[in-house]
Parts: sequence; C-alpha cells; structure tokens
Amino acid sequence: MGTRPVADVTASGSLEEAFNKFESQGFTADIVVACAGVERLGTVIDEPEENWDFVMGVNAQGVYLSARSAYARFVKRRQGSFVVISSDAGIVGTSGFGVYTASKHAVIGLVKCLALDFGHLGIRANAVCPGNVRTPMMDEYLRASPAEAEYWFSVVPMGRFADPDEIAGAVDFVSSPAASFMNGSVFVVDGAGSAGLFSAD
Ligand SMILES: NC(=O)c1ccc[n+]([C@@H]2O[C@H](COP(=O)([O-])OP(=O)(O)OC[C@H]3O[C@@H](n4cnc5c(N)ncnc54)[C@H](O)[C@@H]3O)[C@@H](O)[C@H]2O)c1
Repeated sequence: MGTRPVADVTASGSLEEAFNKFESQGFTADIVVACAGVERLGTVIDEPEENWDFVMGVNAQGVYLSARSAYARFVKRRQGSFVVISSDAGIVGTSGFGVYTASKHAVIGLVKCLALDFGHLGIRANAVCPGNVRTPMMDEYLRASPAEAEYWFSVVPMGRFADPDEIAGAVDFVSSPAASFMNGSVFVVDGAGSAGLFSAD
C-alpha cells in the first residue's frame, strides 16, 4: 500500500466524514478522482474466494460510494468532474487477473451511466485507464522479479512503463475545462499496450 488513506472508500460514513472535513476547511469538491485500488492475482480456481469481496469492495464499490458522496455535492452546485482510475485491465483481459479485471471493467460501466444520468447538469464522469506505471510498489516488484519485468516491458510497444506524472497529466486534462465535452469517455494511457497484439521483432 502507498500513502495512508484519509478515508476508507469501502465505508460511506468514512467518505462523508472526509468530504465534510474538506468542506469545513473552506474548500469545495469540484473535481473528485477515485484512485484507491488494490490488486490480487490468481485464476478462478486457485484464487481464494475472499479476493472477490476484497478487490470488488475497494475497486468497484469504493468507486460507487465515492460517486455517491461526490454527486450529492455536484448536483447541488450543478457542476463537477468525476474521474475514475480504471486500468488497461478495464478494457482487456489478462490471464491470472480475473477479479482485478472484473473490478476495473465494472467501473467503466458506472462511469458511462453517471455520464448519461447527470450530463444534462454539466457534470462529467470519465475513466482514465493506465497501463503499468512506475510507482514505488511497482519498482519494488520489478527489482524482485527481473525476468517478469523484462516480459512486461516487452509487451508494451513503447518499451517502458508510464511515469506517474504521465497519468496525472491525463487526469488533469479530462477534469479540466479543455475537456468540457468529454463525458462518459474512456481515456487510455498505456503506451499502446492494449492497442493490439504486439511483437517487437
Ligand atoms: N501502478 C500501476 O501500474 C497501475 C496500472 C493501472 C491502474 N492502476 C490503478 O491506479 C490506482 C492507484 O494505484 P497505485 O499503482 O498508485 O497503487 P498503490 O498501492 O501505490 O496505491 C493505491 C492506494 O489506494 C489506497 N487504498 C487501498 N484501499 C483503500 C481503501 N479501502 N480506502 C482508501 N484508500 C485505499 C492505498 O492506501 C494506496 O494509497 C489503482 O486504482 C490501481 O488499480 C495502477
């Protein structure tokens, strides 16, 4: 896990508390990015059943509950931008990533419905789908498994993972006025990793 969360996205009370605290400091939540996520690996046979509730709880229900808190506020002000960090796993499957993939596909469906339900109020929802990103957690994994690292680099046509700033730039853009007609979109930032079958030869 990265930084210590200020709210538990699986608990609506905890989210409401965080939003209320933020507002009590004089801020308004105009842009809400649902980024919290967890990952567990395995096939439907070898993965423990609890992984479903854990991963879906954070990655799907957490986004749903975050949307509930965010939209309650957006609707009052007739404005707002909701950005969900899905994944390339939200648009393609990867063997051994079933539950994670299901959770990341689920939130893309939710984003589309949010856009349909609230677009007439000028409130936007979009999904950003990163490919592999060089977070500290990922660096640790790559150092521990150099062979795996080589494989994952080899399937990205750009030959590298994203820098976190390259994902932040996409989030900035979709939530900005420059993207004011972008609603219900799926914005893929994966170095063409999901564009199709790739061979470096
Ligand atoms: N790193 C990648 O390669 C990659 C690729 C595609 C998508 N993503 C997605 O990007 C997002 C960020 O991932 P990351 O790579 O920075 O991983 P990370 O583990 O560094 O960050 C995940 C964050 O989620 C928080 N979190 C977990 N459970 C929570 C909960 N119940 N309530 C509140 N916060 C909680 C953790 O504290 C952590 O700060 C995730 O949704 C992940 O699925 C990451």
